[in-house]
Amino acid sequence: MPLFATMQGMIAPLHNDTFLRACLRQPTAYTPVWLMRQAGRYLPEYRAARAKAGSFMALASNTDFATEVTMQPLDRFPLDAAILFSDILTVPDAMGLGLSFALGEGPRFARPVRDEAAVAKLEVPDMAKLRYVFDAVASIRKALNGRVPLIGFSGSPWTLACYMVEGAGSDDYHLVKSLLYSRPDLMHRVLTVNADAVAVYLNSQIEAGAQAVMIFDSWGGVLADGAFQQFSLAYTQRVLQQVRTEYEGTRVPRIVFTKGGGLWLDEIAALQPDVIGLDWTVNLAKARESVGAHVALQGNLDPAVLLAGTAQIEAQALKVLESFAAPDQASDATGHIFNLGHGVSQRTAPENVGVLVEAVHRLSRRMRTPNASVLV
Ligand code: CP3
Repeated sequence: MPLFATMQGMIAPLHNDTFLRACLRQPTAYTPVWLMRQAGRYLPEYRAARAKAGSFMALASNTDFATEVTMQPLDRFPLDAAILFSDILTVPDAMGLGLSFALGEGPRFARPVRDEAAVAKLEVPDMAKLRYVFDAVASIRKALNGRVPLIGFSGSPWTLACYMVEGAGSDDYHLVKSLLYSRPDLMHRVLTVNADAVAVYLNSQIEAGAQAVMIFDSWGGVLADGAFQQFSLAYTQRVLQQVRTEYEGTRVPRIVFTKGGGLWLDEIAALQPDVIGLDWTVNLAKARESVGAHVALQGNLDPAVLLAGTAQIEAQALKVLESFAAPDQASDATGHIFNLGHGVSQRTAPENVGVLVEAVHRLSRRMRTPNASVLV
């Protein structure tokens, strides 16, 4: 793993490559940690920046704001990776669906895709419309100055389709599921366009400076067995087949996270991502058994643990670390990236994130020392 990554002709030495090493199952001195939604509403400085920008999209589409907000959690906590501040719904927005986020509400599309005519109109968007995302990636790389690697991301074709058809979040996904069962031909067309759009979007992020990429299949787990393989997994595969695996001579690890995907881990592993993200329903040792040794695992503390106190956070973090590798085997434990099983809750006290990051670093370092007793 080269310690030097080039960016637009500039050499930015990577000071902490622990995250990238763990993605590629190389030995690390401790277990790296970053958190989904590490930049977000639990941080008062995020809420202040959002108020100043006026809206979520104003925040995400402004290079300086997006850079500032990405850096906020890194300035507080010694996290091992940064994640681009943006949203998965930028892609359907660029397809012309009209995205908005009202304060205190979820996302909403002004023009959801609900009939044959709307499906026929869908196209891979001109990446120029997403230029603000690639500009943010380049600006964040500069601001990071090699401190930690930058993760780019996208939604999975299926998860994007959920929002595109429903027009918003949903409790039961009845619109997208009824389309899937009544007009599978239309569903396949939406997913094909989404997969090809996501692939060029991720490649453009990599070319702008993203050093790893993650595909969020947040709603893969709402599908029936059989439907998951046909309507989610097959299109994640179509993305992975098109996304570059290296850039300027450096490997770019790919992470696939299917929330609720615990029963399909062997099939997800067959797509050969570098890393599989896991929610909190899965035991890490059992996951390792079903996916084999050729893929790293990311996860999987229940985000609700961060609503408890210091002692509980440390104890539950230790449980996750030990579930990946029992202490007596930990000296050769490779390929674990600590994360939550889903995003940080907005009700989280910021100092609890600090407690978690410190505990993961300290305990995992100790677990790698042979015969050390790991008492919290
Ligand atoms: O993880 C990070 O820190 C990077 C930024 C990021 C955001 N969204 C910022 C955001 C990432 C990686 C996402 C991904 C995303 N967005 C997913 C996949 C991950 C997951 O949570 O399952 C999904 C499903 C979305 C769609 C989305 N965006 C929803 C459902 C919502 C509303 C719910 C919520 O938590 O508010 C958003 C808005 C959003 N995206 C916020 C943030 C910080 C909050 C917006 C605000 O400030 O009001």
